[in-house]
Amino acid sequence: MTYESLLYEVTGALARITINRPDKLNALNGAVIAELDRAIGEIERDRAIRGVILTGAGPKAFVAGADIGEIASQGPVDGKARALEGQRVFRRLERCGKPVVAAVNGFALGGGCELAMACHLRVASEGARFGQPEVKLGIGPGYGGTVRLPRLVGRGRALELLLTGAMIDAQEALRIGLVNRVVPAERLLPESEQLLTTILGNGPLALQACLEAVDTGLDLGLDQALLLEANLFGLLSGTADMREGTAAFLAKRPPQFTGA
Ligand code: COA
Repeated sequence: MTYESLLYEVTGALARITINRPDKLNALNGAVIAELDRAIGEIERDRAIRGVILTGAGPKAFVAGADIGEIASQGPVDGKARALEGQRVFRRLERCGKPVVAAVNGFALGGGCELAMACHLRVASEGARFGQPEVKLGIGPGYGGTVRLPRLVGRGRALELLLTGAMIDAQEALRIGLVNRVVPAERLLPESEQLLTTILGNGPLALQACLEAVDTGLDLGLDQALLLEANLFGLLSGTADMREGTAAFLAKRPPQFTGA
């Protein structure tokens, strides 16, 4: 499959998606959203791919938001449709069943911050900047910013970012829990890949179950979430990977997981 606004590379078990409109700071227009959807489809289908890195092209931006040129001319009906479509694609990424790490290499604003939040983990370069500046344009977030930001950093901090539209630096993003790690720019991709490789050393079905338990469980009541966890725990107990992982521990040898 070919892409015009993305770079899509697969190396071993890792897929790397790079949003590739550096002259527009990788702003998300309709074409980028459509290609992202296609790339996620490839990732879902390809069983050899076990983890994903998402980043932006060029030294300046991860993604500087939805394309303001497109937003400027939208009306209420196509505005809602744009939001729903972006939300669907970001949700598809979040539910793809394989760990996704955002390697945030610069501005992650508006839709860019929302895209990073739809990834499971975020590694930021020291120069990265985060924010939800939509209110400065007289609009609000449309790709999940009011939904995922409070879940990640808490209601008060989320509302401060949403209402001021202010940008914060990588260290502040780390302090409030918006990112997992901050690294020098030249270490961003190696550290992101290392993190993902470490994760992928664990049982694949166990990873999938953790993603599902947290994603679904966060929106359930305590007892239902605990029941979901117990059900997944029971399900994993029927896997060859669980037999292998526990046997390897007891035999003091590294496990050989097969994803079965
Ligand atoms: N949509 C469309 N184009 C965008 C864009 C966006 N969200 N963000 C940046 N661009 C374009 C600029 O228009 C400019 O294009 P041009 O060279 O054809 O004029 C190019 O990317 C470079 O951006 P520029 O503003 O010149 O860079 P800068 O270093 O001066 O400022 C930012 C960087 C990120 C502070 C600034 O681009 C910005 O505020 N972008 C919008 C952020 C935003 O509000 N996002 C939420 C959208 S809902």
